[in-house]
Amino acid sequence: MSSTSPIRVAVTGAAGQIAYSLLFRIASGAMFGPDRPVAFQLLEVPLEKPMQALEGVAMELDDCAFPLLKSITVTSDPAIAFKDANWCLLVGAKPRGPGMERADLLKDNGKIFITQGQVIDQVAAEDARIAVVGNPANTNCMIAASQAKRLPADRFTAMVRLDQNRAQTQLAKKASTDLTAVRDIFIYGNHSPTMFPAFAHATINGQPAPAVINDDAWLKGPFCETVGKRGAAIIAARGASSAASAANALVDHVRDLITPGTIHSVAVKSNGAYGFDPQVWAGLPVRTTTPGSYEVVEGYAMDEFAQAKIAATNAELVEERAAVASML
Ligand code: NAD
Ligand code: LMR
Repeated sequence: MSSTSPIRVAVTGAAGQIAYSLLFRIASGAMFGPDRPVAFQLLEVPLEKPMQALEGVAMELDDCAFPLLKSITVTSDPAIAFKDANWCLLVGAKPRGPGMERADLLKDNGKIFITQGQVIDQVAAEDARIAVVGNPANTNCMIAASQAKRLPADRFTAMVRLDQNRAQTQLAKKASTDLTAVRDIFIYGNHSPTMFPAFAHATINGQPAPAVINDDAWLKGPFCETVGKRGAAIIAARGASSAASAANALVDHVRDLITPGTIHSVAVKSNGAYGFDPQVWAGLPVRTTTPGSYEVVEGYAMDEFAQAKIAATNAELVEERAAVASML
């Protein structure tokens, strides 16, 4: 594919609230760059209401007259949506409501990713990359990857970037500094309250974050808790789960995955790094090597506190894997 031919982007849940922010950002060039045309292949469930809503979204996309948006396909057939897709953005799934944990969605949402994993493997482009947003994202991603015979497991990533962005902002606020001064804050484990934002490796204005913040109790307590439970706080405040910030995080996730040299948090097949079970998809720091490819950044030292946090989030991922064993 030449760099000026449109990149084929399949988006599921395209009439949903995340997609309503996401599609317009992609079409404006925020994800693949200001020179890269895109072709949308938008998937919804085969029901009248969402399909009609999706037609409306497509009309609005038309009405933006985005120079980069070369075509819009609207469908309820995964084989059409994923056909020759270079990126498959799997957003479509039920969001949780108040009082639920993301893992409570596994039974309903998990099965979506069986079919979609199979169809993607059959019809997507040779270079296809898959990013899963639908919750519980890590485990749904594992389910989709488990269906693939052609595409390797490292093509399947899940989003923990929203957690990284949340952590970055919380550190900046605590240090009363601009958030661009905060670097190298990475998320380990599950996109759930057990996730671990590894503050010890973060820097603020080039100095170790713990020295700048000078409040270990806050870092180990309220900081980890605020980041881990931010999704629930937004549901409580908004009456609906995060949407614009989730779409923004997916833009960051994909853009950084196609930008060599970037180090960022992505949930990937762990391969045992940092003690994660090699079968689970865990948030980890990855370095983008070539566009769409990455390596896990190993060697960050983990103290006793960090090891315990990683053990807890790993245990939850292993538990989720056991709960969906019949779907793998
Ligand atoms: P939403 O209910 O507004 O939209 C979801 C859309 O997906 C609906 O239009 C629905 O019809 C569609 N859908 C359901 N099953 C589908 C299928 N099999 N194929 C295609 N489309 C399908 O929900 P939302 O707020 O956009 O959230 C979507 C998902 O993203 C939820 O599971 C939510 O929990 C998750 N989420 C994840 C993160 C993250 O950081 N990983 C952040 C925010 C939300
Ligand atoms: C989030 O983190 O905002 C999303 O995963 C939505 C949720 O259920 O918390």
